[in-house]
Amino acid sequence: MNREWNIQASNAALNTTNPIRAIVDTGKYKPNPEKSVIPLSIGDPCVFGNLNVDQYVNTVLVENIQSGKFNGYPPSIGYEASRTAIAKFVETKTSPLTASDIIIASGASGAIEIALTAILNPGDNILIPKPGFSLYECICHSKGFNIKHYNLLPERSWEIDIDHLKSLIDSNTKAILINNPSNPCGSNFSANHLQQILQVADQYRLPIISDEIYAGMTFGDNVFIPIASLTETVPVLSIGGIAKRFLVPGWRVGWIAVHDRNNLFTAIKKSLVSLSQLILGPNSLIQSILPSILDTNNEQINKFFQTVNATLEEQSRFTVESLSKIDGLTPITSSGTMYQMIGIDTSKFVGIEDDVAFMGQLLQEESVFVLPGTVFGMKNFFRIVFCAPMEKLADAYQRISVFCENHRKK
Ligand SMILES: Cc1ncc(COP(=O)(O)O)c(C=O)c1O
Repeated sequence: MNREWNIQASNAALNTTNPIRAIVDTGKYKPNPEKSVIPLSIGDPCVFGNLNVDQYVNTVLVENIQSGKFNGYPPSIGYEASRTAIAKFVETKTSPLTASDIIIASGASGAIEIALTAILNPGDNILIPKPGFSLYECICHSKGFNIKHYNLLPERSWEIDIDHLKSLIDSNTKAILINNPSNPCGSNFSANHLQQILQVADQYRLPIISDEIYAGMTFGDNVFIPIASLTETVPVLSIGGIAKRFLVPGWRVGWIAVHDRNNLFTAIKKSLVSLSQLILGPNSLIQSILPSILDTNNEQINKFFQTVNATLEEQSRFTVESLSKIDGLTPITSSGTMYQMIGIDTSKFVGIEDDVAFMGQLLQEESVFVLPGTVFGMKNFFRIVFCAPMEKLADAYQRISVFCENHRKK
């Protein structure tokens, strides 16, 4: 056979695009070289160096490295002791778990990919939030799964439009994916609203994938409630991880907790184990520290969680206070996470036709980098990550104010 060299990228690769890169990295907008860049765009709490993992976590990791006990391959679903620790950390009185209900993955991202692949075939569809974390869409496109976006309502603190959710369900719908607390919204659902979602899942016999990577990262009276704790009939895969809560996104450990109901997930549980064998889980050392750091009786860790939440809450309050003073911007107060969505009334400004132009021109003139709502499916909003230290946030919000005044319609 006589063949010419002709190496093409696969369809899976061509179908894998991150909407953030496609909208933000067009090369059209560059920061102002006269002003230092303030990046409030990346969901990484480590960007500024003000939020750091607890020293206890580092100490355990160093001890485990030096022990030499964790250099071999762990089981593909993770060490049993680590899975037991996750089960104890995630379970509730009404939804008990054991090690056999846990699959450890490479970050929550890896867990989401495994969960979606276990439930969907190409051509099936899944209901996902709008606005929502872009990875859901990215994985589904890459694998030929169809997505249908249900609306979140800013005027109702980003609750799901339940009628809209129901209207999307058809015979090819295989699951409902929710993200609570939410990126990009910073919202945290009430028990009542979670019950409404469960009623839909029950009525249409649909399992739930609940992305709970921001579990426990809530402010004031807002208490995080795992959706699985509220149902005896709807099977739930809940996704979690250490990236955000422990401030170590680079460490790449996440998990799936299988909250089965009436053995409805028997086939899915087997599939999750099979799929975990493709990657063989995250690296051994980081999973090895889970029994120590996920211990709910560990006072030092509990104090660390409280301190991080209090810091984020203060930064969130400052963000809302500062930005609500600017005519034309409407922050929707966050209940948790590290994100704030802000509505833009473009009619108040000259030469800013939408959120993408707002993001680009703000970067170009003031070197403040935010993400346009369009990357999450929500036009005329922008998202701020409020992890930066107060003085950086103050500088950024002052620059946003100046930017808005410079573009104000007279
Ligand atoms: C909602 C949501 N889910 C999952 C992830 C991914 O987490 P990990 O870094 O553990 O892969 C993120 C990261 O930003 C996120 O915001």
